[in-house]
Amino acid sequence: MLRLVDLTKNYDGKKLAVDGINLDVSSGEIFGFIGPNGAGKTTTIKMITGMLLPTSGKVFVDNVDVRNRPVEAKKRFAFVPDHAEIFDSISGFDYLNFIGDIYNVSKNLRQKRIEQFTVPFGIYEDLGKAISSFSHGMKQKLMISGALLSKPKLFILDEPLVGLDPKSAKMLKDIMKEHCAAGGTVFFSSHVLEVVENLCDRIAIIQDGRIIAMGTVADIKAQGGSLEDIFLELTENE
Ligand SMILES: Nc1ncnc2c1ncn2[C@@H]1O[C@H](COP(=O)(O)OP(=O)(O)O)[C@@H](O)[C@H]1O
Ligand SMILES: [Mg+2]
Repeated sequence: MLRLVDLTKNYDGKKLAVDGINLDVSSGEIFGFIGPNGAGKTTTIKMITGMLLPTSGKVFVDNVDVRNRPVEAKKRFAFVPDHAEIFDSISGFDYLNFIGDIYNVSKNLRQKRIEQFTVPFGIYEDLGKAISSFSHGMKQKLMISGALLSKPKLFILDEPLVGLDPKSAKMLKDIMKEHCAAGGTVFFSSHVLEVVENLCDRIAIIQDGRIIAMGTVADIKAQGGSLEDIFLELTENE
């Protein structure tokens, strides 16, 4: 569902922010992209979504080349960025309807899905208000709800659990699991290892733009000493 081939980004002609990343995420998987601050997670995700041009390498979403066929690729995924950058002079309802229009979600389905996500997130009652009055967490929940409105095949999230209270974080994890149980795929980044333990089918650990370990959490732990150290280092960074 998501394939990265030798993906590389050089911002400034010196150090590579992303250095030859290869990975394959299958349908139905929850894949965690884990690494400390500055490892290259956001840069990789921006190249996946087409927001940033790779220096070299390729990205395929559902076998569609993101660079050559950007619109076809974008029909297949939805993305929630790490900062809740959102038009905030409109209301929550206007935002969701705007997304629904872009993705051609019928009025009936739209209403059903808006309720499906915003009611449990506890923001349904606030959707009539201007987004500028929303807290960071509320904006994030709104963006997650908007991203899921089109039932994307691939759901991409950058540091989604930052800024969510424990109840909302648990809800988002359940949403990710349900998305995959229904045949969807989730790719998300985190600098916190603990959150991935019971959530991800597989993880990749990225450091200095390179994947230094990949597999199930159990696989990685079984590799022993040095990786355990990496785990500790990552969790310490929290
Ligand atoms: N726009 C940019 N211009 C130059 N360097 C950048 C830019 N964005 C990120 N970087 C650098 O690229 C590296 C990876 O950053 P980033 O992808 O944001 O890491 P992460 O999301 O894992 O914290 C860091 O060294 C960072 O300083
Ligand atoms: Mg980042």
